[in-house]
Amino acid sequence: MDSIKIFSPSSVANLSCGFDVLGLCLDTIGDEMIIKKSKKPGVRIIKIEGENLPLSIEKNVAGVAAKSYLNKFPTEIGIEIEIYKKIKAGSGIGSSAASAVGAVFGINELLERDIKKIDLIPFALEGEKLASGEAHADNIAPAMLGGFTLIRDLKSLDIIKLPSPSELVVTIIHPKIELKTSHARAILKTQVPLKNVVKQTANIAGLISGLYSNDYNLISRSLNDEIVEKERSLLIPKYYSLKNSALEAGALGCGISGSGPSIFALSRGYIIAKEVANSFKNIISKLNIDFDIYISKINSKGVRKLT
Ligand code: HSE
Repeated sequence: MDSIKIFSPSSVANLSCGFDVLGLCLDTIGDEMIIKKSKKPGVRIIKIEGENLPLSIEKNVAGVAAKSYLNKFPTEIGIEIEIYKKIKAGSGIGSSAASAVGAVFGINELLERDIKKIDLIPFALEGEKLASGEAHADNIAPAMLGGFTLIRDLKSLDIIKLPSPSELVVTIIHPKIELKTSHARAILKTQVPLKNVVKQTANIAGLISGLYSNDYNLISRSLNDEIVEKERSLLIPKYYSLKNSALEAGALGCGISGSGPSIFALSRGYIIAKEVANSFKNIISKLNIDFDIYISKINSKGVRKLT
């Protein structure tokens, strides 16, 4: 095998009640990458399409992740990476995580090494660190493993894959405004009132319980954020109008996707997910902001080889 093509999916982090610990993997939007063997030793990014990102290994999330993997598992074989970005950088649906996960998974597949996906996560995290200044795995884990994931402990990589009830469908709206994760983190208060922590804990337990029992009502009741939504909502135009319209259209829940500016809604079935998309469109088209809307099933496989 001299060359492989992979699909590296986008993802939604936080899922309202799970700030920095929950995420899910999307199906319809993802980057493609071609990873090839080369006679010239070392790893190089030779092409990037779709986004204006640096080719330099040290400055590119995929490059940093690849280098970190190859430092631990060196090879004599030269490696060339082509990146076809379909996920917009800074959109809040895990663009940097997809690049990092794709590079590490792709190189591991190309070299036919028997290393489990979960054990590749630390290398991908090195890339994510470059993008947001801080390691958090709530996009990396779902992009790598698929489905819903819980980061119980980042240091020891205690990561749990949760069940995905089959009727869940995600609607995403990406208002194209610039919002950096580092900024969306910097504005957060460092202390949270105890009563909010109690509610957040109850909701995360409720959501996880709902995922295990296929209880869509419980999932719906639990999709609330008591910790970061209030502050971050100020960074997204018409956030509460968009959220309320999704709920009125029948979504189980709606919140900020990762650090924004994208907003996600979870619905039971495609019909409602499409109504949610229309309700988003009605509101955002009155503003002078470009946007994308996506509808996606939960991707239970995560990053995968295409050819
Ligand atoms: N959990 C992170 C945050 C995700 O909300 O800041 C950002 O990628």
